Amino acid sequence: MDVRFARRMAGMRASEIRELLKFTERPEVISLAGGLPAPEFFPTHDLNAAVTSVLKENGRKALQYSTTEGHPPLRRWIAERMNERLGTCVRPEEVLITSASQQGLDLTGRVLLDEGDEVLCEGPTYLGAISAFRAYQPRFVEVPTDDDGMVIVELERRLEQCGRAKLVYVVPDFQNPSGRTWSLARRRALVEVARRHDVVIIEDNPYSEVRFAGEHLPAIKSLDEDGRTVFLGTFSKILAPGIRVGWVAAPPAILDKYVLAKQGADLHTSTLTQMMLAAYLEHFDLDANLARVREAYRARRNAMVRALEREMPPDVRFTRPSGGLFLWVELPEGVDTRKLLEVCLTHDVAFVPGEPFFPNGGHANTLRLNYSNMPEARIEEGVRRLAAALRELLARARHPREPVPELTVSV
Ligand SMILES: Cc1ncc(COP(=O)(O)O)c(C=O)c1O
Repeated sequence: MDVRFARRMAGMRASEIRELLKFTERPEVISLAGGLPAPEFFPTHDLNAAVTSVLKENGRKALQYSTTEGHPPLRRWIAERMNERLGTCVRPEEVLITSASQQGLDLTGRVLLDEGDEVLCEGPTYLGAISAFRAYQPRFVEVPTDDDGMVIVELERRLEQCGRAKLVYVVPDFQNPSGRTWSLARRRALVEVARRHDVVIIEDNPYSEVRFAGEHLPAIKSLDEDGRTVFLGTFSKILAPGIRVGWVAAPPAILDKYVLAKQGADLHTSTLTQMMLAAYLEHFDLDANLARVREAYRARRNAMVRALEREMPPDVRFTRPSGGLFLWVELPEGVDTRKLLEVCLTHDVAFVPGEPFFPNGGHANTLRLNYSNMPEARIEEGVRRLAAALRELLARARHPREPVPELTVSV
């Protein structure tokens, strides 16, 4: 049958990460490619007790349809947590429960983007946001980013050139993919520039509570006095991603639109899951669990940084994140990390090439590494293999007549 797909599907491509994950299922492959939290810290026992108590004491309510906005005790918990940890002044009515923050991104597209609108984003930026927004056919405008966040003069310059800038999308804490965190000065400057140009800020913040070094910084939303910041949060990295619960926090005039959009998308997030989560948060110790997660990620990040310092040539640059799950590597200009990946596959190690994280392409010499999902020894072995593959690729570039080995896997 000749299916006439919607025009928007023409711009949508298969996720490189998803394709890669297929390959990394082979047990001998060390995958530094994924973005999975460490499953050994999922509190399965406590969540089992929480869901059992909900079904026993409140089963009919838990299995019934409920409101789009979400389970009130959960909305209260989230507002209190944000205000305490991130310096915001969010009321429970300003919180919409979503099917994790990926849905928050999709709803953002539905609510704010028309075809041709401009989305300003960091370069690199979160791949899932690129695909969520791409469905609404915007034009991506990348803003150069350094270790302190977006370069604000570059943001301003681009905003002045844009005809239809709608939103600035940022991941200010331990960004996926770069691991970078915005300084306080840049956060303030962003709010000021967004006010002057009258654009919405989308603050996507899954990682700020996964900080294992340094001082917490206030959320961008807490610095914004005229209510133009939409905050996306999630339980995926502080508890478990399979729960699929997150939230949008925004002023009522904006949140109402998200509620309407969510009604059309899925009516509401699973009542049972929300109630299980609220019971878990009331009766068990999220913070004790999170402390263990941070400790493990600190050790794993240290192992990766040490291995990179030891194994990589001196002209390889990489970030040293103080939280989150990822670090970002820049190889010398001219090295193509897609080619490196092909060599890596023959060494049984995988990573994600950096180019897909730039919506307009380029930066072929970059790559993302994940350290959250395996013990230190395996991380070190993974980096050793990666460095060996890099040496092989560089040697091949110096001796181009050497035959290139037959590749059996394509990504
Ligand atoms: C920056 C960022 N935003 C959003 C998400 C989506 O997470 P979830 O839908 O599990 O909340 C991720 C997942 O890795 C992410 O890194």
